[in-house]
Amino acid sequence: MRQPLVAGNWKMNGSRASVSELLGGLKSGIGAVNTAEVAVCAPFIYIPDTQMQLDGTAIKWGGQDVSTHESGAYTGEISAQMLTDFACHFVIIGHSERRAYHGESDALVAEKFTAARAAGLVPILCVGETLDERERGVTEQVVARQLDAVIEHCGIDLVGEGVVAYEPVWAIGTGKTASPEQAQEVHAFIRGRLAANSQAVADATRVLYGGSMNPKNAAELMAQPDIDGGLIGGASLKADDFLAVCKAANR
Ligand code: 13P
Repeated sequence: MRQPLVAGNWKMNGSRASVSELLGGLKSGIGAVNTAEVAVCAPFIYIPDTQMQLDGTAIKWGGQDVSTHESGAYTGEISAQMLTDFACHFVIIGHSERRAYHGESDALVAEKFTAARAAGLVPILCVGETLDERERGVTEQVVARQLDAVIEHCGIDLVGEGVVAYEPVWAIGTGKTASPEQAQEVHAFIRGRLAANSQAVADATRVLYGGSMNPKNAAELMAQPDIDGGLIGGASLKADDFLAVCKAANR
């Protein structure tokens, strides 16, 4: 059975003070959350504080992006090794905001996946269609293209060492959640795509849903057979909301 995973993506939010308060709330509330794996992906600059506060708790942490390079003259970049230096477990790869605002291509995302795994990080690979793509009926083609780029570059076994997150772009930060049926349909498609390469990887790989997941809709989404947890934006910024989503993931 796949262990559910709930990961918070704080994006570019918070201050040193608010991060400390949020982590304090998560630490005191997490005791009641048991079977699901829980993580927060912090802005780089708050990762040291996150490590200090979460060390020794059941909550893991990670970054929101990573360089393809190991080290060198890459101003502004953060390497996978630097993330592991601060005991990061996860790193988000290919978030739609990075694809859209930083021009990240499928090929670059695949290279980032490789760099993350090489350092021992667990990549959370984001895929998902825009509203325009959904309306044009090309959701599956888009998701297949994004997924296949990584499978072809890294090999299916390496992909199986990561996590996939289906995040329909039109549902991110909009309050418009995919219905459980809509999400399940794409999750099943993703699992089928993995199965076409390896049934074992398809069976073992967690596929998270992301896009306006919150305490109200989390249980229903996570009850779907191919939804193994969530990648949570807005609702991960409030300890009570995030913990409620984590509880909804318990099996
Ligand atoms: P929201 O939960 O704010 O819609 O964000 C989802 C997301 O992009 C997580 O990576």
